Amino acid sequence: MELKPKSKKELLDGLQQSIATCKNCSLHQTRTNVVPGYGNPRAKILFIGEAPGAKEDQSGTPFCGAAGKFLDKMLNSINLNRKDVFIANTLKCRPPENRDPQKSEKEACRHYLEEQIKIIDPKLIVCLGRHSVENFMPDSGGISKMHGKTLVRPDGKIYLALYHPAAALHNGGLRQTLMEDFQNIPKIIDNMPKNN
Ligand code: URA
Repeated sequence: MELKPKSKKELLDGLQQSIATCKNCSLHQTRTNVVPGYGNPRAKILFIGEAPGAKEDQSGTPFCGAAGKFLDKMLNSINLNRKDVFIANTLKCRPPENRDPQKSEKEACRHYLEEQIKIIDPKLIVCLGRHSVENFMPDSGGISKMHGKTLVRPDGKIYLALYHPAAALHNGGLRQTLMEDFQNIPKIIDNMPKNN
């Protein structure tokens, strides 16, 4: 009997179950819920943020607070919504008091992100904020230099660095820059090889 290959949704659901019971770092001790990600398993665009905050920890949904509302607004401005894309985070659990993710936590969580990229197989990966940019563009000179720019990595995918929506909410100058950089997304998609 021939086995039907699993769909991307089934594969992501399986991964989500592993994440739900993960104890690979100490953040499992303080989390309420894991926040694996949300969106279209067949998305062409994957957004990767930093880590869940208090609201995300309560709900299990990424970007559901003020930064998420701003992200939704920017998605709408390019005629997309969060059902068209996939939204994940560098860490799947909230760091206490929203402190910065630690190197060891990022390392412990990294394989989940790699697996999400493998399953979804997006064409464009949008890195939101410093931690996300450091994951994939470690030698780029940092987000203030790299924001709005793309890099094609050996996996053939295009990585775009953007400021984090939460940082932009706290700094009016960054807000304008982020909104302008965001408007490049449709151009990047249009310029991608069509057979891909
Ligand atoms: N900030 C993030 O980086 N991720 C979230 O899910 C929420 C806020």
